[in-house]
Order: sequence, then C-alpha cells, then structure tokens
Amino acid sequence: MTLVFETQRLLFRLFRMEDAALIYTLNLDPEVTRFTHDPIEDIEQAATVLEKTILPQYALYNHGRWAVHIKATGEFIGWCGLKYRAELNEIDLGYRFMKQYWGKGYATEAADACIRYGFEKLNLSRIVGRAELGNTGSIRVLEKCCMTYIGNEEVDGYPVRTYEAISPFVR
Ligand SMILES: CC(C)(COP(=O)(O)OP(=O)(O)OC[C@H]1O[C@@H](n2cnc3c(N)ncnc32)[C@H](O)[C@@H]1OP(=O)(O)O)[C@@H](O)C(=O)NCCC(=O)NCCS
Repeated sequence: MTLVFETQRLLFRLFRMEDAALIYTLNLDPEVTRFTHDPIEDIEQAATVLEKTILPQYALYNHGRWAVHIKATGEFIGWCGLKYRAELNEIDLGYRFMKQYWGKGYATEAADACIRYGFEKLNLSRIVGRAELGNTGSIRVLEKCCMTYIGNEEVDGYPVRTYEAISPFVR
C-alpha cells in the first residue's frame, strides 16, 4: 500500500489496478452517482476508469483521486482528491463516499486535508470545487472547507455552483 498522507481519522493511499472491485462497488449505488452521472456497468469498466483516468494522474501530476480508509478499522470508504482538468487548466477537488459512511464528517475532513496537502506539499496555487445545485451535502462540504463561491456554471448540461480556494502561500 502506498500511503500518501493521513488525518486524524482517515488515511489516503494511491489506488492500484487491484482496486477495480472497490470502485465498482462504490459506483453501484444510484444515490452515490445521483449527482456525478457516471454509474459503472461492471468491474471491467471500473478497471478502465482506474487505468485510463485515475492512475495516470499520479504519474503525470503527483496527485489524483486517493483511496480513503478509516485508520482505526482499515475500512475503505471511498475516495477524495485532486485532479488536473486539462480542458480548464484547473485542479479540481472531488470526493465520493459509500452511503453508510455519510454524515460522519468524513467528506469535510478529507476535502479539507486534500486542499491543505495541495497547497502545503504540492505548491498548488488554486483548487476549484464544483457541485450540482441540488447536491446540498457536497455544497456544504465545499463551504465548510472555506472555499469561496465564485458563481454558477453549466457543466455537461448540469447547473453547478463553483468554488475556489487560493493558496495562502502564493502572492
Ligand atoms: C457529498 C458527500 C461527499 C458528503 O459526504 P459526508 O461525509 O456525508 O459529508 P460530511 O459528513 O462531511 O458533511 C458535511 C456537511 O454537509 C451536510 N450534509 C451532508 N449530506 C447532506 C445532505 N444530503 N443534505 C444536507 N446536508 C448534508 C452535513 O450535515 C454537514 O454539515 P454540518 O456540519 O453543518 O451539519 C456524500 O454525500 C457523497 O459521497 N455523495 C455522493 C458523491 C457526490 O455527490 N460527490 C460530490 C460530487 S460534487
């Protein structure tokens, strides 16, 4: 296991190709993909997501979506992390957790730690977060992480609220 960093309750590690079943299980729940609009059909598709989308980010940018586990129990709860979006030249903050772990403050703890890691360890200057208008929980996470609301946009046909965080270390 390649550990990236940890918080009080969570640890963050790199995904591996062996994690296709975890990605598949996470995306199996229609409530989890309700606002992300990317259900996964089978384990083969989950493996493709790992191979083509998640793993290349680590090598190219030294960051990505990280697998998140509860430190005390080792349980996999989902993922959180950063992703370079070339089409926008932006670093995107994202998170997705299995339903049984919602409402325990994990998303806020994870997202906040990823923003800090991005600024303090990766020297990023700006991180952007977007959440669909109806995704109250995700909007609340972005606000609890002290991101600044900068406006509404339409992404892939869906209305979203857009937030940014600017590194305190960049003048
Ligand atoms: C959005 C998501 C990550 C939130 O995870 P979580 O671990 O439950 O979030 P937290 O426990 O850190 O809660 C953060 C805040 O949001 C609130 N919140 C969480 N879900 C909520 C909901 N469905 N409705 C209203 N408020 C909600 C919490 O009460 C908390 O606010 P508070 O501290 O003022 O009470 C989780 O629901 C999820 O994985 N959803 C599916 C994937 C997804 O939509 N990802 C985001 C795409 S933009």
